[in-house]
Amino acid sequence: MTVEGFAPAKINLTLHVTGRRADGYHLLDSLVVFADIGDRIFAERSDQLSLSVVGPMAAGVPTGVGNLMMQAAEMLSPGRGAALVLEKHLPPASGIGGGSSDAAATLRLLSELWKIPVLEAAETLVLGADLPVCMRPSPQRMQGIGEQIVPVASIPDCAIMLVNPGVSVATPAIFRALGRRDNPPMPDVLPTWGAARDLADWLRTQRNDLEAPAISIQPVIEDVLQALASTEAIFSAMSGSGATCYALFESKEVAQKEAARLTEARPDWWVQSGMLLR
Ligand code: C5P
Repeated sequence: MTVEGFAPAKINLTLHVTGRRADGYHLLDSLVVFADIGDRIFAERSDQLSLSVVGPMAAGVPTGVGNLMMQAAEMLSPGRGAALVLEKHLPPASGIGGGSSDAAATLRLLSELWKIPVLEAAETLVLGADLPVCMRPSPQRMQGIGEQIVPVASIPDCAIMLVNPGVSVATPAIFRALGRRDNPPMPDVLPTWGAARDLADWLRTQRNDLEAPAISIQPVIEDVLQALASTEAIFSAMSGSGATCYALFESKEVAQKEAARLTEARPDWWVQSGMLLR
């Protein structure tokens, strides 16, 4: 029996860095959403735990214990076997949570294959700060270093385009390049957005505090943001620690059209369009 799961791209619509803990980890306040763009994961019964990686973004992705999927499987049920296949579509180390989303999807999938309960979101924090939020791929507000998560019910129907200029970014370096670390959080109570435009208008009043440091390390991010600003997008910004940027659109058709246009203009960039998961 083969079971199959989906590991969607995680997008930080906002990312406010509000402080730093004594251990060096940063306190965040982030509105996180997921898209119907992502990696596929397959699992079947086996005596040994193994992972093979295929697909357009497979190059360089570790297949051994260096892959969070293997660490997640070992954490869920130590010593138990399964043959895992990762079909990699998302660019690695690019601010859209690929590795964390793959690990979270692996936990969901193996709990189905092995018929055991999945871990609590907070328990997965040891695998990475983005793991808890990826355990349930729906809109959430993420605080603390990533362990405090609450669902956000009011994300409107919205199309999205994701663009990566082919550079990977090391998250610790971006945090090190950050100036102020005690920036204001999002409002205590988030608004209720009736339509995509309401969300876009509100996002214009918020920030990704990692955008400026990421641009200082990878100036090409600025080119991506400029390219997105010249589309029919209703809002665009960088996700996570970059380098992937996102643009929001009112309809899937417009997002597809703009993605096709950008792919033609910049064939060296990774460009995808889809819908937000709600
Ligand atoms: O936990 P994860 O492996 O995703 O984090 C990668 C790196 O990003 C950490 O080692 C840390 O340098 C930085 N980080 C941080 N504050 C967070 C999340 C990550 O400083 N909340």
